[in-house]
Amino acid sequence: MEEKKLFNVDGEKCLKCGLCVKDCAFKVLASEEGGAPTMPHPEKCMRCQHCFAVCPTGAITFDGISSDAAVSTRGIDLPNASQVENWFKTRRSTRMFRDEDVDKEVLDKVLKLLANSPTGCNSHALKFICYPNRAAMKGFRNAFLKALEEHREGAKMLPRSLAVPAILMRNGKEDIFFRGASGILIVACDESMPMVTTPNEDVAIACSNFELLANANGIATCWCGFLKIITNEVPELLEKVSGISRTTPFYAMLFGKSAINYARGVERGEYAKIDYRE
Ligand SMILES: Cc1cc2nc3c(=O)[nH]c(=O)nc-3n(C[C@H](O)[C@H](O)[C@H](O)COP(=O)(O)O)c2cc1C
Repeated sequence: MEEKKLFNVDGEKCLKCGLCVKDCAFKVLASEEGGAPTMPHPEKCMRCQHCFAVCPTGAITFDGISSDAAVSTRGIDLPNASQVENWFKTRRSTRMFRDEDVDKEVLDKVLKLLANSPTGCNSHALKFICYPNRAAMKGFRNAFLKALEEHREGAKMLPRSLAVPAILMRNGKEDIFFRGASGILIVACDESMPMVTTPNEDVAIACSNFELLANANGIATCWCGFLKIITNEVPELLEKVSGISRTTPFYAMLFGKSAINYARGVERGEYAKIDYRE
């Protein structure tokens, strides 16, 4: 079987304009004067696909993907600036969720879109561990409580700020950790992958993008900082609950159907402490 090439150019479609060579951040493309581009050292390519995206005629096939498979930037619906502004200003952290699952297809679409999140050196070394519905979340909560119980049995005390929410949760009184969400997404960095330069940033950006994309698709979200805080006290917690090693950079997002409608956005203009240095 012929080996699939990372970078292929259709010589007839190629205009020899040189745009792909110019836009290659790692300078792995070469072209002879008036010739089509080549990639002499594909192992040095960070697979950002800028060559594929910039080619005016769609002459490039990248890793077997032809230009027909990609979204065109011409003639597509995009929100205008004021729509994006409204969307940004009305995004909310939701802390009241309905006792309902989110649509798995919509969730799946949003999760797949996260492959478009930028990552340092285009490493994409992220794992999206998702408990998608109330049944899965019940298992997650039970495993969480069990891990806390084992921690307590080891005579290790949690600080009051975590012990009280744990007791309330165990007694079925209040779910301060997980806000009654029907699902949780844990974004974890796979540091065994090559070129991981910015693990914490990659995780946070993916979470932030999940928040925006989920909200745009009718799925409400809340950052789950508590899970992060509690793993500082109970480092083995996520290992026990989800098999995520204690040293793995991660963050988590709660999600579900919102049980609250906000009548307006918030105004936080004063927080934008901009310091132009001209
Ligand atoms: C990194 C991070 C961690 C957070 N952790 C929690 C959390 O554990 N529980 C919670 O209810 N909200 C959490 N939040 C939500 C913030 O409290 C919220 O963004 C802030 O109150 C402003 O509300 P807004 O997001 O609706 O604008 C977190 C937010 C961020 C960015």
